[in-house]
Amino acid sequence: MSMVLTARNLARYYSVSRGAFAQPATLKALDGASFTLDRGKTLAVVGESGCGKSTLARLVTMIEQPTSGSLAIAGEEIVGASAATLRVLRPKVQIVFQNPYGSLNPRQKIGHALEEPLLVNTAMGRVERTAKARAMMASVGLRPEHYDRYPHMFSGGQRQRIAIARALMLDPEVLVLDEPVSALDVSIQAQVLNLIAELQDRLQLAYLFISHDLSVVKHIANDVMVMYLGRVVEQGPRQAIFDTPQHPYTQALLSATPQPDPSRKRDRIVLKGELPSPLAPPSGCTFHPRCPIAMEICRSRNPALLAHGPNLVACHAVNPPEQQSRAA
Ligand SMILES: Nc1ncnc2c1ncn2[C@@H]1O[C@H](COP(=O)(O)OP(=O)(O)O)[C@@H](O)[C@H]1O
Ligand SMILES: [Mg+2]
Repeated sequence: MSMVLTARNLARYYSVSRGAFAQPATLKALDGASFTLDRGKTLAVVGESGCGKSTLARLVTMIEQPTSGSLAIAGEEIVGASAATLRVLRPKVQIVFQNPYGSLNPRQKIGHALEEPLLVNTAMGRVERTAKARAMMASVGLRPEHYDRYPHMFSGGQRQRIAIARALMLDPEVLVLDEPVSALDVSIQAQVLNLIAELQDRLQLAYLFISHDLSVVKHIANDVMVMYLGRVVEQGPRQAIFDTPQHPYTQALLSATPQPDPSRKRDRIVLKGELPSPLAPPSGCTFHPRCPIAMEICRSRNPALLAHGPNLVACHAVNPPEQQSRAA
């Protein structure tokens, strides 16, 4: 197994102003995630809006530094790394956003948009840059005549192909895909997901694939990490997460996804209440006010993320507290 990226207890806190006379509050956007990304494999990160997925994406792509924890890319620790080291590491991790229109310059031809990363980061000459852009266009399913067109002339699906092509221009090892198909029509989603899978096969890329929707990652994930209010609540191999989910939150998310096989239909678990504000998270297990099986201890004690079969689960009902103190 070749590990491309290792994250340990990665956390990012923000200081949020509450007005001129109040102390700023600490918002724990990401509160400790550990995982590895391997060549040719996909880790999917799922959870409702605001659970910290994009924050994680910004840390992994080195757009922001973590508040604590460690992050190693190609064996090099990036926390506290020199500017020179970061310059070498940054091109290895690229990102594709949900809305590619925002990251494309409306006045720049697509061909030139693809060549820009090469112009900025490499010593490649013009002829070579153009050849590479044209080859990349072909590999994401764009036609040669698209080279001279502008972003507004493309459909949403085509623009996402352009964004993927641009992210691949510097031959990264890791691709972070932050809700890459969430803005697309369902019929187009499958085409773009197929392209993403095909490129991974061909280039042996490591993917961090972010989605609020478990059904989107079902076919592409090797491992799944489920997040709730900045914390990882369950993590494990795809099959274990989909077939034997342990955490009540994972079970609720799964029950809300469409089931193609009616004999395996799950009863819909409707969570009570609303997603709490991350500025005032509930005590203990932050999921307890919405949890269908919450116990007394869940109000006061935050459950540790512990092994249960092939999964890691943070839940007092799954890993009883006696067991947790023995493990600690
Ligand atoms: N720069 C920031 N300053 C303050 N709070 C932030 C900042 N970025 C994100 N947050 C907060 O962190 C939490 C997680 O956000 P985000 O990572 O964007 O979640 P997701 O991508 O899962 O929707 C949210 O409550 C969001 O408001
Ligand atoms: Mg997001």
